[in-house]
Amino acid sequence: MASTIFFLLFISLATTSLVAANFYDEFDITWGDGLGKVLNPDLLTLSLDKSSGSGFESRNEYLFGKIDMQLKLVPGNSTGTVTAYYLSSKGSNWDEIDFEFLGNLSGDPYILHTNVFSQGKGNREQQFYLWFDPTADFHTYSILWNPKHII
Ligand SMILES: *[C@@H]1O[C@H](CO)[C@@H](O)[C@H](O)[C@H]1NC(C)=O
Ligand SMILES: *[C@@H]1O[C@H](CO)[C@@H](O)[C@H](O)[C@H]1NC(C)=O
Repeated sequence: MASTIFFLLFISLATTSLVAANFYDEFDITWGDGLGKVLNPDLLTLSLDKSSGSGFESRNEYLFGKIDMQLKLVPGNSTGTVTAYYLSSKGSNWDEIDFEFLGNLSGDPYILHTNVFSQGKGNREQQFYLWFDPTADFHTYSILWNPKHII
């Protein structure tokens, strides 16, 4: 059966640092057998077919930042798919911000599941039922992380 692209994830990179960030130099496609692509220095796309999803990761660590992701999720029966992005530091006392869409049966809503780890401790799960259909179109999902807030 021909493989079908169920969803595409577009990530555009904005930076306020003096040295322009770019997807060729600062990120690696870590899995997905060709389903993840860097299209130009500012645009990386990830997709999913029947055999695999795809993923990428940054080479550098960032202290604070804002990430905007444009996602269109798998429609219909998406049981077993988890579309996620997360920020994480390393070591046993790591910090982490998670953003996950839990796939579901046709007709049941996706659940957006978030968590924040501080010094290795999570237990800050929150679940959201979205007020729009995340499979109908691309929407922008953002994480803003600064010294005062995680939004
Ligand atoms: C939904 O998809 C899962 C995983 O492919 C499958 O196990 C399940 O039977 C499907 N459910 C329905 C109602 O189609
Ligand atoms: C699927 O949707 C149902 C109904 O909203 C919900 O109770 C269930 O927890 C969902 N499953 C997942 C894995 O999100």
